[in-house]
Amino acid sequence: MRTQRGNLPKPAGRTAKLTVYALGVAAVLACGAARSAEVEVLHYWTSGGEAKSAQVLKQMLDEKGDTWKDFAVAGGGGGNAMTALKTRVIAGNPPAAAQIKGPAIQEWGDEGVLVSINDVAKREGWDKLIPPQISGIMKYKGQYVAAPVNVHRVNRLWINADALKKVNAQPPATWDEFFRTAEALQKAGITPVAIGGQQWQDAETFETVALGVGGAAFYEKAFVQLDQSTLRGPTMVKALETFKKIKAYTDKAQTGRDWNLATGMVISGKAAMQFMGDWAKGEFSVAGKVPGKDYLCVPAPGSQNAYTFNVDSFAFFKVRSADVEKGQKDLASLLLSPKFQEIFNLNKGSIPVRQGMDLSKFDTCAQRSAADFTSAQAKGTLVPSWAHDMVDTPAVEGAFYDVIGNFWNDDNESAQQAADKLAVAAKTR
Ligand code: GAL
Repeated sequence: MRTQRGNLPKPAGRTAKLTVYALGVAAVLACGAARSAEVEVLHYWTSGGEAKSAQVLKQMLDEKGDTWKDFAVAGGGGGNAMTALKTRVIAGNPPAAAQIKGPAIQEWGDEGVLVSINDVAKREGWDKLIPPQISGIMKYKGQYVAAPVNVHRVNRLWINADALKKVNAQPPATWDEFFRTAEALQKAGITPVAIGGQQWQDAETFETVALGVGGAAFYEKAFVQLDQSTLRGPTMVKALETFKKIKAYTDKAQTGRDWNLATGMVISGKAAMQFMGDWAKGEFSVAGKVPGKDYLCVPAPGSQNAYTFNVDSFAFFKVRSADVEKGQKDLASLLLSPKFQEIFNLNKGSIPVRQGMDLSKFDTCAQRSAADFTSAQAKGTLVPSWAHDMVDTPAVEGAFYDVIGNFWNDDNESAQQAADKLAVAAKTR
């Protein structure tokens, strides 16, 4: 904090005492001002459940004496937000923090624009609080540059309980059961599957089907190791065929529909099921729906033993202001605090990333998610979500999006052709 002290005339006598006092007050006020930082945060949480969660963050940061400056960019999955981020960073004016994940954190680190928050992480013992599969992603060259807030499970199926009752079915555990139930729902005049025709939603659905059809070892080989023969092999072809078979059970008006509107179709009973990560629960909660009664949340068919994780995190950017730097550290510390982890995740549909939390306030969906996370970790079936930025570089992920989106929309392309294209896409630089 720079002061103008050098320019002040030398005080004398009583006036001197008053002046010294006044200077003290000024210094205190100045320090007080420095304590309140405006922290601009880029995020893409704009649906009902998401906005409620973002509000928790804003409120708790404000309670710390800082000011949240909202930089919300609508668009599920964050594609639009990433474009906005690039524009701001290139202009030399990054936000203090941005919601980015996975390998993109490393890419921003390579650009030299991220700032270390390692002192906060060290002081608060993050290495012990965060599972190692996740803490590694948050570090650049051994230093924390990002803070995680949650764990979302992606391989999920959401079901309207009444719709299922109408066709006298149980939640489908296998793909055969799934298609039998879908057929019955169709006959009963209910759209079996709600989907939004946006590339990231197609990609997410396919990712979930691939896990259910091929299992975690196949998934890992294909999407994490990018193994060429697995990408174009028979299991991938089967996964693509299964994915495409779902299309007959979706509605015609899906093009461009946002994910939360698709969730709305399941909430209202217009549609029966949706494949979506557990941020969907935030929408059910906002609508006042109760899990186990109004809706069911189950692992997607065939994927009961595996867990695709998607961790939201905030990376911190270099800014030219000591006040903002202080605000960044306040935010980093807040994100991992038990109180924030509980309230935020209760709203978001995810589970705390901070280990050892008391989950008694969480519903059965979340409690099951936490238990499954731990057991998948032990069994080696915990896999990162590629459709949600957790594995591949943005270039490879984008190329995969194109292949899957085109395959979904083009009824003349064969599953083998799409598999061959996935293998080519994996080589994108
Ligand atoms: C994911 C993100 C979630 C959720 C979802 C829909 O990528 O991790 O927090 O917001 O997109 O926007």
